[in-house]
Amino acid sequence: MTAQLIDGNALARQIRNDVAGRTAALKARGVQPHLAIVLVGDDPASQVYVKHKVNDSSETGLQATLERHPADLAEADLLARIHALNEDPSVHGILVQLPLPKHMDAHKVIEAISPAKDVDGFHVASAGALMVGQAGFWPCTPHGCLRMLESIGYSLRGKHAVVIGRSNIVGKPMAMMLLAQSATVTICHSATPDLGAFTRQADVIVAAVGKQNLLTADMVKPGAVVIDVGMNRNAEGKLCGDVDFDGVKEVAGWITPVPGGVGPMTRAMLLVNTLEAAERAAG
Ligand code: GUN
Repeated sequence: MTAQLIDGNALARQIRNDVAGRTAALKARGVQPHLAIVLVGDDPASQVYVKHKVNDSSETGLQATLERHPADLAEADLLARIHALNEDPSVHGILVQLPLPKHMDAHKVIEAISPAKDVDGFHVASAGALMVGQAGFWPCTPHGCLRMLESIGYSLRGKHAVVIGRSNIVGKPMAMMLLAQSATVTICHSATPDLGAFTRQADVIVAAVGKQNLLTADMVKPGAVVIDVGMNRNAEGKLCGDVDFDGVKEVAGWITPVPGGVGPMTRAMLLVNTLEAAERAAG
């Protein structure tokens, strides 16, 4: 292996320690950061994700309240719950776990969250703030990727970053964050012909598609930094990313593993956003 590993578990641990320290300081001022998590229905993956979010919160001193609702909850009733949480001064962050049941309009639900409490960073006001460089909450996964690049002291200025994937929660905000760091940014996606022609030019590659072995060694410039956002199950049921890790690690300069890379960083950044929502509210 020639690439150095960017250890998401170790970096996330450092971030959680920092969050725990700042949370203790805020509590000394009488404010406990409080995340309200809203889960509708019984999607098995969502159940696991929200359990992690609750445990991460309590381990770092944040309060997390999990609200469970049946899958047949009326959209109007969910909107009413969100409005109540918006008005509750003891709640600093609101997270509605996705996906929502099919009878609900997820956009409408997310837009109901107060941008001041939008710790997922999914609200259009949060996306707009990121786009124009104003203060607002950044989506946790791309923010975690940026922190990983910072952790290796990597300067993005003038570098060519290629983002693979154009989702609202990873690809697009990732591109904006890299652009704000003065990288030259290319966004590739499912309609991009000859993906390798783009990735071979890249100093930094962020793969966020959800397709096993999408990025192989022949598509990577020697020494490039490779960030793998993918979360897939291979034929044996093992968790793997979008990057052919065994091949790419022989070419890249830096690489993130799956598991133990971006995943723990996403979880850590939610704690950071919730703490910051509480710090802002406390003044
Ligand atoms: N479902 C899968 N990932 C996420 C996430 O980061 N936030 C929310 N709200 N739902 C999700």
